[in-house]
Amino acid sequence: MQKVLVIGGTGLTGKEIVRALEEDGGFDLTCLIRPSSAQKPSVKSLAARGIALIPCDLENDPIPTIAHVLKGYDTILSAIGFQSKQTELKLVDAIALAGTKRFVPCSWSIPCPPGNIMLLRDEKEAVLQRIWHHHIPYTIVDVGYWYQISVPRVPSGKVDYIMVLPANERFGDGELENLLTDKRDIGGFVARVLKDPRTVNQRVVCWGERLSQNEVFKVVEEVSGEKTPHEALVAKRDQAREAFKADPGQILNRIMQSTFEYNVSKYVRGDNTLGNAKYLGYLDARELYPDFEPLSFKDFVKQVLDGKGEKLDLGDIDPDVAKTMKE
Ligand SMILES: NC(=O)c1ccc[n+]([C@@H]2O[C@H](COP(=O)([O-])OP(=O)(O)OC[C@H]3O[C@@H](n4cnc5c(N)ncnc54)[C@H](OP(=O)(O)O)[C@@H]3O)[C@@H](O)[C@H]2O)c1
Repeated sequence: MQKVLVIGGTGLTGKEIVRALEEDGGFDLTCLIRPSSAQKPSVKSLAARGIALIPCDLENDPIPTIAHVLKGYDTILSAIGFQSKQTELKLVDAIALAGTKRFVPCSWSIPCPPGNIMLLRDEKEAVLQRIWHHHIPYTIVDVGYWYQISVPRVPSGKVDYIMVLPANERFGDGELENLLTDKRDIGGFVARVLKDPRTVNQRVVCWGERLSQNEVFKVVEEVSGEKTPHEALVAKRDQAREAFKADPGQILNRIMQSTFEYNVSKYVRGDNTLGNAKYLGYLDARELYPDFEPLSFKDFVKQVLDGKGEKLDLGDIDPDVAKTMKE
């Protein structure tokens, strides 16, 4: 059985991957837990489900100590979050020492090329370059943009309970394609990718639907019976970049820069498309796994309107920051 170590298994992405690998039953699964999080309910819930946990302080432990902890796993997968890029670079050095058969770094984003389009992508690409430096076998998995943060508000407020960043702003003519995925489907794709030798040393793009913003608004209007208010196009990215440059320590500045860079990449440049993913060399998970049926965006919106959506747990984000993000 493939021995898999998941790092970030309590996070928004990681928990979906852990759940799917657990349900699959074909993996010997362990989660790496930072000692400071050992008492968190999310960690206790993993333990209660019988998932093996190993503590390791990636930030403070020396690389040989971390490598010792990482030894013996066939696959190491990271969903560590965008605030931990330096930690992930160190992790790559430790994985090289541990001799892991495959590393899946924390990508889980859109197929945007590197080069000052999105800071997030450039950071992820720096991790990939470190992987290449060490000749570590790898797979990059990107997933388009989550359904969960692609839903526009409707006047009745019926979808507000899942809302992190409202998606009512229409960019350009709203016609550009975007790859969208229910974040709960990420795990199902990953379980297949990890068993598939065709995906070693490849990028794989997973997606549930290819929809333009206009199609997203249409689905929400059809299912809810309400008109979604569109705001005018505002190019706020440069303003957000300036704010981040002036105060990079402020998490809200980082989130806003990331959001506007995503918007420019998705809605102005058209990076988040299947055509662009293939151009960049990605394998298409839908072609690799025709048996897997992701949830449609329409069914996702129905679930949300029926009150069955999930309010995303933003973890330790300051309540004031979370409130400002919503506004
Ligand atoms: N495509 C999309 O629409 C989309 C949307 C959101 C995010 N993403 C991508 O998904 C990736 C993962 O983000 P997320 O929002 O799922 O992450 P998240 O919810 O913030 O979770 C981060 C996870 O990493 C763990 N972690 C953080 N620092 C660590 C450290 N130093 N040592 C060990 N574990 C550590 C956390 O564990 P604790 O329990 O210890 O805190 C948690 O399990 C991001 O890189 C982002 O680019 C994509």
